[in-house]
Formats: sequence, structure tokens, C-alpha cells
Amino acid sequence: MKTLEASSDIIGIVDVIEQLCGIQVDDRKLYLLEHRFGELMREASFSNYAELARRAREDRELQQQIVERITTRETLFFRDGSPFQALQHKLLPEIIDARSTTRNPKRLRLWSAACSSGQEPYSLAITLRELLPDVDRWDIQILASDISSTAIAQAKQGAYSEHEISRGLSPAQLNRYFRKEGSLWRVNDNLRSMIRFEERNFLQPFTSVGMFDVVFCRNLAIYFSDTNRKDLFHRIANQMVDDGLLFIGAQEYHADMSQRYTMEQHCRATVYRPKKHFL
Ligand SMILES: C[S@@+](CC[C@H](N)C(=O)[O-])C[C@H]1O[C@@H](n2cnc3c(N)ncnc32)[C@H](O)[C@@H]1O
Repeated sequence: MKTLEASSDIIGIVDVIEQLCGIQVDDRKLYLLEHRFGELMREASFSNYAELARRAREDRELQQQIVERITTRETLFFRDGSPFQALQHKLLPEIIDARSTTRNPKRLRLWSAACSSGQEPYSLAITLRELLPDVDRWDIQILASDISSTAIAQAKQGAYSEHEISRGLSPAQLNRYFRKEGSLWRVNDNLRSMIRFEERNFLQPFTSVGMFDVVFCRNLAIYFSDTNRKDLFHRIANQMVDDGLLFIGAQEYHADMSQRYTMEQHCRATVYRPKKHFL
């Protein structure tokens, strides 16, 4: 296999990918290039990666195709279990208690940042419905964002195959929140109406995104460089209320996070709270 040092041809496209979406393709992942772009290269008759990189620098449509092909959108309902259990049994009841004497005691804002095809925000919506029997009287919004238009389109549709449904949902949840349509299972409107979906590139500033009580940003930063990962978690801290909660993926901790967050363990889940005072 070629190494990055050996091939300026490859360095060009690796740079373009990182500039477009932050995803790092290092030496160990170069096989991904052929796997993800081989077909595109043949269809568009690009003779090498240098040509793909050159064209991508000026062609927005090609940029979008590169993002769609390089992003890994693997996800499932209630991924890893413990973050959702910690929310339902401990952390959301605590937030609700803490808000009870404020001006907006029934307002909650959650963010599924890098939501992929929607399983994560729908799992959050189910968690809230199971916790709050009068949820429809609450002012709740879950923002679900992702760079991939394909992922956001599926998430908005809320229609899943038998295989996708079999990953993480209990039969009771399936019956309560989904209905069968042909070969797919479609999310009921009472879940979908709790979520706002948007395309967003997390390398760009979080303009007009709002402030959140709970942020899930899981299994995205693992693909980023150290610098981009650190910057991402710092910028997310700016979008969180004082006692807000951040959940990240198991291998995504960056030592620098300790400047902006304190770490806590609840129900076997690790959670980060933004510090009020930091240097
Ligand atoms: C592996 S999925 C994680 C889905 C979900 N959070 C989970 O943990 O199951 C990673 C997602 O990050 C999205 N992504 C990659 N780069 C991004 C960027 N720069 N901005 C926003 N989303 C991005 C991908 O499109 C993909 O859907």
C-alpha cells in the first residue's frame, strides 16, 4: 500500500476531505479511498486522485458527493445503552427538578449532533416520552444535525428496514412508536414532531444553533484530528446551559476537555458538564 509520504497524488484528496468535513484519512485508512471513490472515479473518468482533488476544489456538487461517500453513518437505536439509561433514571429527573422553580420549568432542549439516519434523536424522543407521561404539555425540542444530506433525508422520513429496527429497539417500543408501511417501519408523528432536522457542517461556526440542556455528540470526533476534536468540544461547551450535559463516544475523550468540562459517571455512562470558569 502507498504511504502518504510516497504519494502527492493521495495527499491532495486527503487534504480536500479534511477541509470539507474534518475527517482524517491516515495511512491506515487509505484503503477507504478505493472503496469509497473507485466507482465515482470510473464514472467521471478521473484518471487519478490528483484530478479528483483538483476538480473537487471548485465543484460544489462533487464536494457533496465526496462528503456523502467518505462519511461513516453507522448507527443504531439506543447505541451503548448506558447514556440513555443515565438520562432516563437520573440525569433528566435532576434537570427537571432543577428547572421547577425557573420561569420555563417545562422547557428542554436536546441536540443530537451528528445524528446520522436518525436513530439517536428518535431514541432521545422515546426516552423523553417514557419519562414524561404528559410530554405533550412540555416545550421540548430535539435538534438533529448532520453534514450528510442522505442521512438527514432518511432521518426526516423516519422509515427503517427490519434490520435497522432489530438493532436496539424493544418489541414494546416498536409497537408503541412505529407503524408498518410495506416493508418498512415508520416512526409515529408524535415522535417525529419533537425533532427538528437540519444539515450542518460541524467544522463551521455554530451560528443560531441555540443553547442546550443535553448534547449527544457521539462517534463523530473520533474521525477528526486532535486540533479539530479539541475545537469541536470547546465550541459545543459554548452552546450548553450552565448545568448542561454532554455525551461523547467511548474513545473520543481529548485531554484538553478537562479545561472546559468536568467529568461524571452515572449509571455506567460518562458525562461532561461545562465549567463555569475556565482559563
Ligand atoms: C458514525 S455516525 C454517528 C451517528 C450517531 N451519533 C451515533 O453515535 O450512532 C457519524 C456521523 O457524523 C457525520 N459527520 C461527519 N462529519 C461531519 C461534519 N463535519 N459535520 C457534521 N456531521 C458530520 C456523518 O455524516 C455521520 O452521520
